[in-house]
Amino acid sequence: METLLTDASTMLDKKGFLDIEIPEGTDLIAEINRMRKEKNAIILAHYYQIPEIQDISDFLGDSLQLARAAAETDADMIVFCGVHFMAEAAKILNPTKKVVLPDLKAGCSLADSCSGEGLRAMRAEHPNAIVISYINCDAGVKAESDIIVTSSNAKTILDSLPQEQEIIFAPDKNLGKYLNKVTGRNMILWDGACIVHEAFSLERIARQLAEHPNAKLIAHPESEEPVLNASDFVGSTSRLLNFVQTDDAQEFIVATEAGIIHEMQKMAPGKTLIPAMTSDENNCNCSECFFMKRNTMEKVYLCMKYELPEILIEEELRQRAEKSITKMLDLSVKVK
Ligand code: 13P
Ligand code: SF4
Repeated sequence: METLLTDASTMLDKKGFLDIEIPEGTDLIAEINRMRKEKNAIILAHYYQIPEIQDISDFLGDSLQLARAAAETDADMIVFCGVHFMAEAAKILNPTKKVVLPDLKAGCSLADSCSGEGLRAMRAEHPNAIVISYINCDAGVKAESDIIVTSSNAKTILDSLPQEQEIIFAPDKNLGKYLNKVTGRNMILWDGACIVHEAFSLERIARQLAEHPNAKLIAHPESEEPVLNASDFVGSTSRLLNFVQTDDAQEFIVATEAGIIHEMQKMAPGKTLIPAMTSDENNCNCSECFFMKRNTMEKVYLCMKYELPEILIEEELRQRAEKSITKMLDLSVKVK
């Protein structure tokens, strides 16, 4: 193991994961289960992970549920199957625990669009504003923020603040616009977006709706305004999941990352779930987050075995970032 890992940091810098050959015939699921027990590890997975990872997770959820699970766990090692900002949030909440992410390059276009420095500069232009940031941001941005929100609790948290309070909202302009509309606010928006949710094509979705006249269009609020305006229901990943189970409709066109369909189909077995089409005529018709899909079963196995790549955060930054996440966890009521 020592020799294999001599070049680990170079490998992680270059590739983002441990590119180590796994002996043929290794039963990945059995090995993951064995290590999970031996190492007192918990596997947290987001709904956008590949189905195999969702199925082996101890806890599957949206960003808010995962942050809560990370805050509550007594495991010694958190194996975070999601993207970097999510694993980083788990580490911020658990400084003494080991947090590993199967692939360090599992990033996020939204998180990448905003820096702590940039946000500080924006704040300087609006001295009376408080800064509310979507959880899809890095520790530097969290440290510059007053409160963190997710798409599940953003409206509830905003509604708890005085209507006249000036607010900067970062980094998702689509979610920000949507929140301005549903809360009657006029927040100043950072100009970031999710490449996955921005890819939906209203024109092609309209064709899908024409082919399925009884289907309801449901969308995640990271989608663009025209798609949201055309939707029958807008909600976070877990709210969409809940909606397909409780609504009377039998068919749904789902405008969010296609990984959610796996859990949706399990929860609503008799219903027809159709991934909304993107504008990409050449590739697949569904929308997949390239970053989320970087995690594979092999990488989960390797990161549990070698306990790498590990998420590490400088303590002063961690403490500043923790305040804004803790504020969110304190303010948000339990939402499903
Ligand atoms: P939620 O899990 O909060 O719905 O967010 C979706 C997302 O884009 C995660 O990256
Ligand atoms: Fe980021 Fe969008 Fe991927 Fe979510 S789906 S991780 S917001 S790029």
